[in-house]
Amino acid sequence: MKYGKKVWMNGRLVPFKNANVHVLTHALHYSTAVFEGIRCYNTSNGSAIFRLQEHVDRFFNSAKLYSMKIKYSKKKISDAIIKTVKASGLKECYIRPIAYCGVGAVGLTPPLNNIDVAIACWEWKMGESKAGKFSGAKCKISNWIRIDSRSQPMESKAAANYSNAALARVDALKSGYDEAIMLNYEGKIAEGSAENIFIVKDARIKTPPLESGVLAGITRDSIIQIIKENGGRVIETNLEKKDLFSAEEVFMTGTAAEVKSVTHIDKKRIGNGKPGNITQTLQKSFKDVSMGNDERFLSWLTYL
Ligand SMILES: Cc1ncc(COP(=O)(O)O)c(C=O)c1O
Repeated sequence: MKYGKKVWMNGRLVPFKNANVHVLTHALHYSTAVFEGIRCYNTSNGSAIFRLQEHVDRFFNSAKLYSMKIKYSKKKISDAIIKTVKASGLKECYIRPIAYCGVGAVGLTPPLNNIDVAIACWEWKMGESKAGKFSGAKCKISNWIRIDSRSQPMESKAAANYSNAALARVDALKSGYDEAIMLNYEGKIAEGSAENIFIVKDARIKTPPLESGVLAGITRDSIIQIIKENGGRVIETNLEKKDLFSAEEVFMTGTAAEVKSVTHIDKKRIGNGKPGNITQTLQKSFKDVSMGNDERFLSWLTYL
């Protein structure tokens, strides 16, 4: 993995190898951290960060839901993200801002007045999203239930959400699949371990509503807006397992995955078992938008 040369830590850019935390960092023990995943694309007009404002807004909201006070303004964090990418030596990358409870308490009570912030970035390799991009991903409906907001604020992109997601992901990989699909406690479809999910049936595109306990994905929102701008619409409605199996197409969205085709679920073929036309069209549209080739969405890009 090629990492950015510098990491922004509490207001300073430090060399990658010096971006370390103490073993008694509270977040390491109690998952008291919130973070973001953002992409910077190497467009024909230079490197551009995708939907920076929305990611920074979600970052602050995630922290607020855990009573974590970030001691920097949104503007300062946006500028720091740009600075980190500029100092990285990378033209295209994945960016990870993280706010976490640092050293200061060695028990459960989080040191909420001691929130550290760091921003790192690294070269994005398609890795596990490759299948979804080309041949289509094979997914397993997980036995792990997506925890919901009765247990912790799932609207927050918090580290604490990801042990549940990682259990589902690891179980899917160990069973020979590419990704997990998680149900909520009502038995409805929630999301993938790190992606939102959509289906296409009878020319209708549907996705579970945010109330089903899914992360308000920024790619999900981008896809909904792209479809709308192109004259279509997405129906936000609860979906059941049978809706997945009878769909003509299933796809997932996420910052890492972008638009990922799902061609098999629990060993059953979805549609004809190949990436569908609507999915492929959306993959292309999303690429055009993120690479600055669709003028209607240029405001989503922050050029460095
Ligand atoms: C649980 C979960 N759902 C959905 C998403 C997709 O969100 P976004 O499109 O903002 O990356 C992610 C990715 O971070 C995620 O972790």
